Amino acid sequence: MPSEEDSISFEKSNMTIDSNEIETDNDSESDPNRVKDFVVTPWEVEGDIDYSKLIEKFGTRAIDDTLIEKIKNFTGEIHPFLKNKYFFSHRDLDVVLDEYKRGNKFYLYTGRGPSGLVHLGHLMPWLFTKYLQEKFNVNLIFQLTDDEKFLFNSNLDMEAIQKYTYENILDIISIGFDPKRTKIIVDTKHIKYLYPLSIEIAKKITYSTAKAVFGFSNSSNIGMIGFPPVQGAPCFLPSIFENKPTPVLIPAAIDQDPYWRVTRDVAEKLGYPKPAQIHSKFIPGLTSLGKMSSSRPETALFTVDEPEILETKIKNTFTGGQPTIALQRKLGGNANICPVYWYLNYLFDTEKESQERYNDCTGGNLLCGECKGDMIKKVKPFIKDIQIKRDKAQNLIKDFMIDGKDFFEDDNTGFN
Ligand code: TRP
Repeated sequence: MPSEEDSISFEKSNMTIDSNEIETDNDSESDPNRVKDFVVTPWEVEGDIDYSKLIEKFGTRAIDDTLIEKIKNFTGEIHPFLKNKYFFSHRDLDVVLDEYKRGNKFYLYTGRGPSGLVHLGHLMPWLFTKYLQEKFNVNLIFQLTDDEKFLFNSNLDMEAIQKYTYENILDIISIGFDPKRTKIIVDTKHIKYLYPLSIEIAKKITYSTAKAVFGFSNSSNIGMIGFPPVQGAPCFLPSIFENKPTPVLIPAAIDQDPYWRVTRDVAEKLGYPKPAQIHSKFIPGLTSLGKMSSSRPETALFTVDEPEILETKIKNTFTGGQPTIALQRKLGGNANICPVYWYLNYLFDTEKESQERYNDCTGGNLLCGECKGDMIKKVKPFIKDIQIKRDKAQNLIKDFMIDGKDFFEDDNTGFN
């Protein structure tokens, strides 16, 4: 069912409107985000994900060659994450680029739920975000949803979340975002920047819409139900900062799309441009399909892992190889389902190297031990470099925080 207000044109900008983004299924108590064989919600990603089905289900658009060429017009090259379809889907990316060409600069907005340590999978969208910041010379809002992680994880208390928030901020800074053009928002610390916008958003979303989009049920705590506008608010903050309707582009993994669906649906009712998105896939875990997860440490390579730990994890990883060397030589491996292949493809191999690796693996000329060895060789210095930058980041936090304060610097209450 289309949402109520289908086509009010947005007066203050020429962003297009396509408001069929929310299917409300008011009577159903079942989770609408469950598709057979795999499940993708902002809080759960499991199974063998069929990304073209997700595009259909979520109603997003594939990033096709025409759009890639259009991006190239601005960047002068095609980023490997576009070439290899790690970023594969979007909403209104073309519109944002057209606006940019007309001189209407966008803001980037991305975020992190600080429920654990940062692993290689988290860095990928951030590296791409940094690339976009550099190429387009634009501002970035980086939100840490510590409130979300508190509300949605029964086993996490605020003390643990605060520790992860701090550690995650070091990772974010170590990516190399431009401090003059980047502002970090930690929800529980900086809610005053978001609160006025989030109540505007909240007022326009009914419980039945929230239920249909996020799969809330009678047993969801009411904090969860009230949270989505807090993640929506940064989409409109740039318009407040700039004092004019300002486009926003969100690089994020596609599991976050439900948030943008509801935010887009209310945007024009509130007088803001609809936020645009560029969606990534998930990076595979080391032992299973689905996404690499901080809550299963053996499936993730953390930025704080010591070299020996990285090596052990990679050695123990699941691959697409055959059970014996003889069979591998005879039948070849299955690179498509192999996390080692994909890690190397996404982060370390050139296009040519990756193609050769694929052919050698599937043709039976390459053994898993060799790929694991390559991966260990590449991952160790990569993580080492991040660790050096993380150490330096401790002194840079103030430069990045939206209020210009250090992480542990408390607000003055006036009471002593
Ligand atoms: N909800 C996200 C998570 O759990 C964090 C987040 C907040 C985010 N705002 C965002 C992610 C914007 C991407 C883009 O990880």
